[in-house]
Amino acid sequence: MYASFRSIGAYAPKKIYDNSYFESILDTSDEWILKRTGIKERHIADENEFTSDMGVKAAEIAIERSGLKKEEIDLIVCATISPDYFCMPSTATIIATKLGLGNITAFDISAACTGFVYALSVARAFIESGMKKNVLIIGAEKLSAITDYSDRGTCILFGDGAGSAVISATENKEEAIIDIHTGSDGSYADLLMTPNGGTGSEHDELASETCFMKMKGNETFKVAVRTLTKDVVEILETNKIQSDKIDHFIPHQANYRIIKAVGDALKLKEEQVVLTVAKYGNTSGASIPMAINDIYESGKLKHGELMLLDAFGGGLTWGSALVPFAGK
Ligand code: ACO
Repeated sequence: MYASFRSIGAYAPKKIYDNSYFESILDTSDEWILKRTGIKERHIADENEFTSDMGVKAAEIAIERSGLKKEEIDLIVCATISPDYFCMPSTATIIATKLGLGNITAFDISAACTGFVYALSVARAFIESGMKKNVLIIGAEKLSAITDYSDRGTCILFGDGAGSAVISATENKEEAIIDIHTGSDGSYADLLMTPNGGTGSEHDELASETCFMKMKGNETFKVAVRTLTKDVVEILETNKIQSDKIDHFIPHQANYRIIKAVGDALKLKEEQVVLTVAKYGNTSGASIPMAINDIYESGKLKHGELMLLDAFGGGLTWGSALVPFAGK
C-alpha cells in the first residue's frame, strides 16, 4: 500500500495587516520590509478565532475535495506552534470534535515551520504500515498570539492561517509520495524560540507576554539558505530526479530572499517556484499547505504533477518531500 496526496484546502482570516500598519506602530518602512522579506500583507485572526477554528475551516475544504465522507478519516495530525492551549488538550483533538469526529486518533506535532512536512511523513508511515487509510493533516497557526508587536525584527514577518490535506492509501504506485526527508539539530535551539512558559523557562511565571517568539534573524537566515539548499539537493539526488522535472517547488514561505537563493542554487525557473510570502507572510506550519492551495485554486496544480516541498524552522528542524499531486 502506498500513500497519496489526495486533496488540499486552506483558510486565511479576513483581517489584514499591511506594511503601512507596521509603519504606524514601529520605526520601519514598507520599503525596508519589502526589500528584506518580500512581504506586503499578513492575515490576522480575530481575538476569539482560535488555531483550531482555522484548522477546521481548512480541513472541511480538504475533506470535501477528497470525495471522502468525513467518517472515513481515521487519523488527524495537526502541526502547530500556536496551539489553542498550552500542553493540552492537543489542537488536533479539538479539531476532531469540531469536525464531528469524536472517536479518532488525533495528536499534534511541534516542528515549527517544518511541521507540515513532518505531519506528511507521519501520515505516510501510518498508511504504508497499514495502520490507517485516510489521514487528515493540518498546519494551523495563530502566530499573532505569540508575536511581540514591539519587536520590529520579528513582528513584520508573521501571519495567521491554516492549510490541510487528506493523505490516502492507494495501490497505484504512480500516485505514491516518492520520498520525504526530515531532520533536526537542537544545538541551534536558541536561534528561534519561545524562551518562556515551559519547564525550561527563564522565568517561573507563565504569563503569555513572556511566551513570545524570539529570533536571531540574520543567523537564522544564513542557516536556512544552507540547510534548505542541501536538503533539496540530497532528496533530488537520492531519487535521481533532475530539478527541471519539478512542476512546482513549494518552499516554506519565510522570506523571498531565502526562496530566491534556494531556487537559484537549484537552477529552477521562475514559473517552477511557488511564492505566497507577499500576501500571507510567514505562517509557519500553515505556509506550505496554504501555498499548495493557492496554486490549486488558481488552476495551476494538476493531477499527476510533481511537487517538491522544502521547509525549515525553529528547533532547528528541516524537511523536504517529493509528492505527486493525486487530487482531481
Ligand atoms: N524595519 C527597519 N529596520 C529593521 C527592521 C524593520 N522591521 N528589523 C530590523 N531592522 C534593522 C536592524 O535593527 C538592523 O539595524 P542595524 O544595522 O542598525 O543594527 C538592520 O535592520 C539589519 O538587521 P538584520 O537582522 O541583519 O536584517 P536582515 O537582512 O537579516 O533581515 C530578517 C531580517 C528579515 C528577519 C531576516 O534575517 C530573515 O528573514 N531571517 C530568517 C527568518 C526565518 O527563516 N526563520 C525561520 C522560520 S520561522 C519559524 O520557524 C517560526
